[in-house]
Amino acid sequence: MKNNNSAADGEQAGKLSVPSVVPTMTTTSVVTWRTVRVSVVLVGVTLGLFVLYNSAINPFKFLPVSYTYRAFRFSSPHKDPILEKVVKEAAMEDGTIIITTLNDAWAEPDSLLDLFLKSFHVGNGTQRLLKHLVIVTLDQKAYSRCVALHPHCYQLDTQGTNFSSEAYFMTSDYLKMMWRRIEFLIYVLEMGHSFVFTDTDIMWLQDPFNHFYKEADFQIASDSYLGNPEDLNNVPNGGFVYVRANPKTVKFYKFWYQSRTIYPGQHDQDVLNKIKHSPLIPKIGMKLRFLDTANFGGFCQMGRDMSKMATVHANCCVGLENKVHDLRILLQDWNNFFNRTIAGNKSPSSTPSWTVPQDCRTSFQRGRQHKDDKKTGN
Ligand SMILES: *[C@@H]1O[C@H](CO)[C@@H](O)[C@H](O)[C@H]1NC(C)=O
Ligand SMILES: *[C@@H]1O[C@H](CO)[C@@H](O)[C@H](O)[C@H]1NC(C)=O
Ligand SMILES: *[C@@H]1O[C@H](CO)[C@@H](O)[C@H](O)[C@H]1NC(C)=O
Repeated sequence: MKNNNSAADGEQAGKLSVPSVVPTMTTTSVVTWRTVRVSVVLVGVTLGLFVLYNSAINPFKFLPVSYTYRAFRFSSPHKDPILEKVVKEAAMEDGTIIITTLNDAWAEPDSLLDLFLKSFHVGNGTQRLLKHLVIVTLDQKAYSRCVALHPHCYQLDTQGTNFSSEAYFMTSDYLKMMWRRIEFLIYVLEMGHSFVFTDTDIMWLQDPFNHFYKEADFQIASDSYLGNPEDLNNVPNGGFVYVRANPKTVKFYKFWYQSRTIYPGQHDQDVLNKIKHSPLIPKIGMKLRFLDTANFGGFCQMGRDMSKMATVHANCCVGLENKVHDLRILLQDWNNFFNRTIAGNKSPSSTPSWTVPQDCRTSFQRGRQHKDDKKTGN
């Protein structure tokens, strides 16, 4: 907002410079007058730009022009009737929706989208949640694939960036994609919808609403969970969050989004891991809680008791093929467990357990190798 104002001030400064020059010119010939008028306008424009430029780099350095423009755009109601329609159709009675974002690489047949949707069907009490899922696509191909499989699809305006190929972990396109996602979620909150955001490489095995904290505004999955949901030393994973829409969470999300300029080159999750200590969070009054990996597991850390597991994330894993490979096995593990439970076979000796991570376990080293290969290839 502040930058918007100073941009307006800049224009004003340009205009104000005109009258102070004009009166002294009224007696000169028409030709000279025209030249002067042109140059006065030019001076005005230059002055305006100069003021704008200075205000953009100096006093509000942490708020770039692009951010304030978007913040302004968000606050205008009924901006996106298509999104509002999709969200309304998917919303639960209390307005809550489930959101995932998807690009072409993840939407291909036999890839993550298929596994993600399958998990809702083989999970315990998760199938009914599918009608509340909004799939936000980042490119046209993912959108077409979504429409073929699911009733609630929304194509996000990606503002000129091509997110369709597999955005390799921590490349600049990957970062842009992550931050565009946060920006989109601010908009959803401002529309008044609480949401569960889930990455598409998370399998929904049981209803997560049975495991959420009752009193929290913002609850987030953990890469590493130390045993206490309020302990700020827990390591968050932004791939799974449950956020209640209220003024506190809107303020917090805007603060999170702004903080990306203080920690350039870092993704939303790393920035969150820094700002979780900020005194601004208690000041806003937002209750932040970390979800237990016993219920919201992942390849970084995962509870052993399958009956307690709501969702499992292919985190601590890079590379699409590695994720697909291990998640496919995870669903088999789950089926083994769940079918036996249904059949009433509970003998401890035959109790199934997780057999993953496998390929994901070594994916970081092999991922680095892959990148180096690419470099020498170029
Ligand atoms: C985006 O990238 C993909 C793969 O790299 C390419 O096939 C596609 O044509 C690109 N789309 C646009 C709009 O540039
Ligand atoms: C399935 O979900 C129901 C309801 O939450 C629960 O009572 C039951 O124990 C679950 N089944 C298994 C195998 O975890
Ligand atoms: C278990 O149940 C699922 C779905 O109900 C089924 O597709 C699968 O073949 C069954 N058996 C095993 C061993 O996974």
